Amino acid sequence: MMTENYRLEFTQEIQDKLTTAALEAQANAYSPYSNFPVGAAVMTQEGSIFTGCNVENASYGLTVCAERNAIAASVAAGHLNIFAIAVVTSAPFVARPCGACRQVICEFSSEDRPATIVSVASNGDAVVQTINDLLPDRFNLL
Ligand code: THU
Repeated sequence: MMTENYRLEFTQEIQDKLTTAALEAQANAYSPYSNFPVGAAVMTQEGSIFTGCNVENASYGLTVCAERNAIAASVAAGHLNIFAIAVVTSAPFVARPCGACRQVICEFSSEDRPATIVSVASNGDAVVQTINDLLPDRFNLL
């Protein structure tokens, strides 16, 4: 078996698939306070996809971002290694993941195999970066 050396390659097909999944999740966003729905889709190193949307709360600080909800779903299913993540917002420009989400992405993506981040605007414009681009010199305890 070659599974130990198996590496996914980031392709346009994967980008499109993740963007579609993130858009579907965005449709379920609970964002009555900001009116800023966000959807995220994580692809794990094994190729599985998990999605999340932002879930707001009347006590604003309890809001959880779409990215962190997608990552929580992945972790709950036993997938701890992020290969790529697409984030779709309703902004007319490309909005990248917030700082808190960047740190959480780092938890499940090593610096030598950094997750690919696709940030997608409401008009479909997309920017592809890695988590190392978005959060250089990350905080690590281990
Ligand atoms: N939000 C996300 O879901 N992801 C981010 O990376 C940034 C912000 C959400 C939180 C809140 O529900 C709304 O967008 C406005 O900040």
